[in-house]
Amino acid sequence: MADFFDKLIKQEPYTQYTLDMFSRSAGKDHAEIDQFDKWRQMVTGANKYTFEVSHLAAQRPEISVRRESGDEYNLISFASYNYLGYSYHPDVIDAAKKALDLYGLGATGSPLLNGTFQIHKELEDSIVKFFGQKDYGVSLFSSGYGANLGVISAFIHKGDHVVLDRSSHASLIDGAILSQGKISLFRHNDTEFLEKVLKRIDYENTRILVCCEGVYSTDGDYGNLRDIIDISHKYGAAVLVDEAHSLLVAGENGRGVCEEQDVLSEADMIIATFSKSFGGVGGCIYANKKITNYMNYYARSRMFSCALDPGVTGGLIKSLELAGGADGKERRKRLNYNANYLREKLKGHVDIGTSSSWIIPVIYGDERLTLPLSDYLQREGIDISLMMFPAVPKNRSRIRAFVTSEHTKNQLDKGSDIILRAADKYNFLIG
Ligand SMILES: Cc1ncc(COP(=O)(O)O)c(C=O)c1O
Repeated sequence: MADFFDKLIKQEPYTQYTLDMFSRSAGKDHAEIDQFDKWRQMVTGANKYTFEVSHLAAQRPEISVRRESGDEYNLISFASYNYLGYSYHPDVIDAAKKALDLYGLGATGSPLLNGTFQIHKELEDSIVKFFGQKDYGVSLFSSGYGANLGVISAFIHKGDHVVLDRSSHASLIDGAILSQGKISLFRHNDTEFLEKVLKRIDYENTRILVCCEGVYSTDGDYGNLRDIIDISHKYGAAVLVDEAHSLLVAGENGRGVCEEQDVLSEADMIIATFSKSFGGVGGCIYANKKITNYMNYYARSRMFSCALDPGVTGGLIKSLELAGGADGKERRKRLNYNANYLREKLKGHVDIGTSSSWIIPVIYGDERLTLPLSDYLQREGIDISLMMFPAVPKNRSRIRAFVTSEHTKNQLDKGSDIILRAADKYNFLIG
């Protein structure tokens, strides 16, 4: 392996750099900014900078992108979270256009003061109706990131505790840091570990929030929600379930992993992002009305940020309507079929970890491979996201394939062929 990297670094010198090298302060002279700039110029100059490529049209299964160098590529996309294809559904676009015409481009104000429009109320009502529970409410945010940040930091204060699954998304961790509560992590999905952590806290006198996810975007596996909720409640802790990657896609009716594991009425707070299966942007907390009313007033990322765009909000209402009906059922069926199909093609040849959803990681390990591999995959014809430290542990870097209901068999076949060819070239075939 050492020889392999020596050779690679000689051919492609920038591979010896990894992004986290530039993320630390190097004293008063801002050396890391200069170093990053030098690295970026070298990579861009070699036409190997594969981040921030411009998409030239909607996030369909086949897309065209333009690199900073001006080179354009036609790619099969496995990089978008557009699981049900709603970002470009004609009815969704139509609904967004109508709302845009009526309400204008932006909300131009914070929701609490002057930025709430009738269309926001309609979205809140649609979400409550979609879940069908009495006395529940919704508080809207302009991003999923903002929802986690605002909700956790409004619920938890100094002296309280936030306990997170170790694979939690950055927005949950950042919310916990902002809250100034004490932070503990438990091993991914390990409920015995969680119980040990809870027992160590003075749980009878302390407010505790346990955070977990419906489907984890790093591993593509499901949260063990039933056990996490049972154990958390045993110690008086509230549970927040982030269904960013599972709402509209998991569960018989699309109500997420909470529906699938029959814990909808036990989860204390559910976070949704509209940037994934809804095909738009924004986020919300769905919870008992008392909690969401409180969040409307006290979540700082809501209070001090502009409300959702009215046009997008119109589109979100239509996505939800489609997902809650026959169209959603049909798309969820196709999505699961497609995900199983691609997983079966990759399984046994590359390490796909514990994936059991529409997110399929392919673990290649060493982060020095990230840029050459990403460049190779794009040139071969697929757009796919690569993740490395600090988003995943060291030496667990991975390609992640996001499958959608709209991929064809031919696109899935081509995608898996390219991934397997890359695995052969970069030494991460396992079978
Ligand atoms: C689990 C999870 N929560 C929250 C977010 C943030 O959502 P958004 O991109 O809508 O801000 C993401 C984004 O990928 C996520 O994966």
